Amino acid sequence: MNTTDAVTFWDGVYAARPAVRGPRPNVRLTETVTGLPPGDALDLGCGNGGDALWLAGQGWRVTATDISAVAVERLAALARSHDLGERVLPVRHDLHESFPSGGFDLVCAHYLHTPFALDRATVLRSAAHALRPGGRLLVVDHGSAAPWSWDQDPDTRYPSPREVATGIGLDPATWTVERAEALRRIATGPGGRTAEVTDHVLLIRRTG
Ligand SMILES: C[S@@+](CC[C@H](N)C(=O)[O-])C[C@H]1O[C@@H](n2cnc3c(N)ncnc32)[C@H](O)[C@@H]1O
Repeated sequence: MNTTDAVTFWDGVYAARPAVRGPRPNVRLTETVTGLPPGDALDLGCGNGGDALWLAGQGWRVTATDISAVAVERLAALARSHDLGERVLPVRHDLHESFPSGGFDLVCAHYLHTPFALDRATVLRSAAHALRPGGRLLVVDHGSAAPWSWDQDPDTRYPSPREVATGIGLDPATWTVERAEALRRIATGPGGRTAEVTDHVLLIRRTG
């Protein structure tokens, strides 16, 4: 499987659905960021853009990136329609190949999972290095599969947040793990169906 397959797959995922007009932010983002002073944020794998739009509404300047041009173009249009076009910069990147430039006070990556090759440890290490001193990296991964997930493989292993942190391999003199938790929530899927799922939440702060 190569980059063309990944682009085709993710463009197909978004093109197959109508554009979401009011995408909602992820709860792990809102609970982590509420109360922080706004600055520059980077959203990795922004998808429908609920996180980017919410951050912009809180006063953050957001670079939002995704492999899917469909997702990126829809987010640009949505940001303009919400009068947030000046605060949201959607840019297409295949994070397997390139990483957005700049320094950030917050980098978030929610459910950055893909069936294609992606060296997440390298991507997340780049994210940690892109933080300004005092900045935070929030990584939220699936810790279980919802019944409507594309991945129903019973052998799928969900690395713990500590394992993800170990894989990133950051120098503790410069980066501190502030949270590494498995948290449950009720998720809502297609057609309003609900199920309990587990989130693996990792919060790293650049201290040096
Ligand atoms: C499971 S979705 C999560 C979307 C969004 N963060 C959310 O919480 O709803 C994973 C996202 O990662 C994007 N993605 C997958 N592989 C990528 C890559 N190599 N580079 C950039 N984005 C990628 C997909 O297009 C998709 O939008």
